[in-house]
Amino acid sequence: MSTQPNYENPWEEAQNNRSYWYHTMAFPDGETIRGSWTIEDFDQYIGGYDLSGKTVLDIGTASGFLAFSAEKRGAQVTGLDAASIDEFRHVPFSDSLSYKDIRQFKDVWTRDNLIPIKNSWWHAWAKNNSKAKCVYAPMPELYEWPEQMFDVVMAGAIVEHLSEPVFAIGAWARLAREAVLIPFTDVIPVDDLIMRPITPLDNSKINYVWWHLSRGLYNKIFNNLGFDVHYTLAQAEHHDDVNGSTIAKRPSIIAVRRGTEAHRTFKVDPSLTFTMPEPEPAVQVPQDTPARRPWWQRRGSSSGSGSH
Ligand SMILES: C[S@@+](CC[C@H](N)C(=O)[O-])C[C@H]1O[C@@H](n2cnc3c(N)ncnc32)[C@H](O)[C@@H]1O
Repeated sequence: MSTQPNYENPWEEAQNNRSYWYHTMAFPDGETIRGSWTIEDFDQYIGGYDLSGKTVLDIGTASGFLAFSAEKRGAQVTGLDAASIDEFRHVPFSDSLSYKDIRQFKDVWTRDNLIPIKNSWWHAWAKNNSKAKCVYAPMPELYEWPEQMFDVVMAGAIVEHLSEPVFAIGAWARLAREAVLIPFTDVIPVDDLIMRPITPLDNSKINYVWWHLSRGLYNKIFNNLGFDVHYTLAQAEHHDDVNGSTIAKRPSIIAVRRGTEAHRTFKVDPSLTFTMPEPEPAVQVPQDTPARRPWWQRRGSSSGSGSH
């Protein structure tokens, strides 16, 4: 663990090595490289939040579209992504490589995905003449940077890939002087404090997504951390060989720290208003269950037999 961000030295060879482009990127020299996702309107994607003159941490930076767009808006940017494939948690299924053979899985993923996506970031960095920094660190390490803060932390489309999203949101909030932006992330439209699997967990090919969190849960976590939450509407276009190009619309979560200038001035642009779908019926929490002590406080219980 490092007590401050361990910034990468620029990957000078990235342009000569294979890249995987997550984002479509248009460069100052006129070249455009098509990626898996195209974000036409960066400002809409981040809820119209003003980044000029701000320090920004872009969590889950992928090919860096958000990072380099923020830099073009006048921000001083640090991109962050996983240091190692160990940080990617997959839902276990009996026929998944990540379950059956973790060593082989890590090898394949590092070679085919993690390194090529990082190459794309550094490739784009060079083509943009960027001054952005980049750090590869596991999420818990963010809690270990005592001196470090950024004005704004952005974490687009990543919550769903985390097995411990609430813990991660805490790490992002701790680093954010004025706002945490969680663009393009579905929200369950209820005020109950819940998260639930994104899929019915019946398809082992979709083992890379975990949880949707409810509006109530986002509001509660951020309220506990001193932030107020707004929801805006974002759009991106997905490209794949089977379905062609499809537009996806999802909310962006804009959490602004109370007591800051940003909290006094941030207003959602009416054109970005996100109308939550009709709330689903409330989840009934059984009222007659007596509060139980956790297993480690129960006398005579053997570890592993209690419920957590
Ligand atoms: C779906 S992409 C989103 C890219 C970009 N933020 C956006 O909004 O378009 C998710 C990104 O998060 C990264 N990621 C996933 N799990 C991570 C983890 N545990 N720690 C750090 N980064 C992670 C992936 O490597 C990838 O770059």
